[in-house]
Amino acid sequence: MDHQEIEKNEKNNDKNNNTPYEVIPDDVRAYRDKEYWNMRYQKRVNNQIEMITSEFTNTRTFDWFKTYKDLKPLFNAHLTRNSPKILMLGCGNSTLSEDLYDDNANYHQITNIDFSDIVIDQMYKRCHETHKEMQWLVMDVRDLKFPDASFDYVIDKGTMDALMCDKGDVWNPDEDVVENVKKEVDEVVRVLKPGGKFIYITFGQPHFRRRHLERDCWKVEVETFGEVFHYFFYLMTKMY
Ligand SMILES: C[S@@+](CC[C@H](N)C(=O)[O-])C[C@H]1O[C@@H](n2cnc3c(N)ncnc32)[C@H](O)[C@@H]1O
Repeated sequence: MDHQEIEKNEKNNDKNNNTPYEVIPDDVRAYRDKEYWNMRYQKRVNNQIEMITSEFTNTRTFDWFKTYKDLKPLFNAHLTRNSPKILMLGCGNSTLSEDLYDDNANYHQITNIDFSDIVIDQMYKRCHETHKEMQWLVMDVRDLKFPDASFDYVIDKGTMDALMCDKGDVWNPDEDVVENVKKEVDEVVRVLKPGGKFIYITFGQPHFRRRHLERDCWKVEVETFGEVFHYFFYLMTKMY
């Protein structure tokens, strides 16, 4: 399964049925590019860019594979610290952070980043009055602008998958794919506090993902969830 199939399978997650199919790229490598994501998050009518209204920002949501409701049992089992500092990598316009925030007062210190300035602007406008403790920052997951050991939990839902989109052999990804994923994981290791956790939620099976996640400072654990299609919840706890 790849991103294009995910987009079709998860159409029902787009509550307002408003993710246009014409934004699905012909070449999956487009998912690695900021220009692609900025284009995708713009409002388009008949292929013309339109002004973003608050009505658009408030209703335009898309969660790639699964929502907070599906993930809540896993989060409850693994997010156990009090008032943790949480970093959401590649937040997009998913409702995951808002749902986490609304469901539990313990999860209010969420910093959301995405390299698309367009989506960060929309998310800030959507949330800054209703979810005051959350932050929205334009940032690349491969180059985090945070000090070492600044977060208790780092969450990636589908973002590393975008970095891994490749046309070649999935068993033997291109060097630049390997390098980009390495940069993301190295940055996560750096910004996590000792004892902190990296949670990566993906459709990517362990034989394709595990080798990119392995580091001396943690053990990679995996839980499978989902019924028709299987998804994977990778959990890495930083030991030191
Ligand atoms: C597949 S979407 C997932 C969005 C959201 N996490 C979800 O679960 O619905 C990937 C997101 O990651 C962002 N992204 C991709 N590469 C990135 C990078 N190198 N740095 C920061 N954000 C990135 C994209 O702009 C997009 O919003």
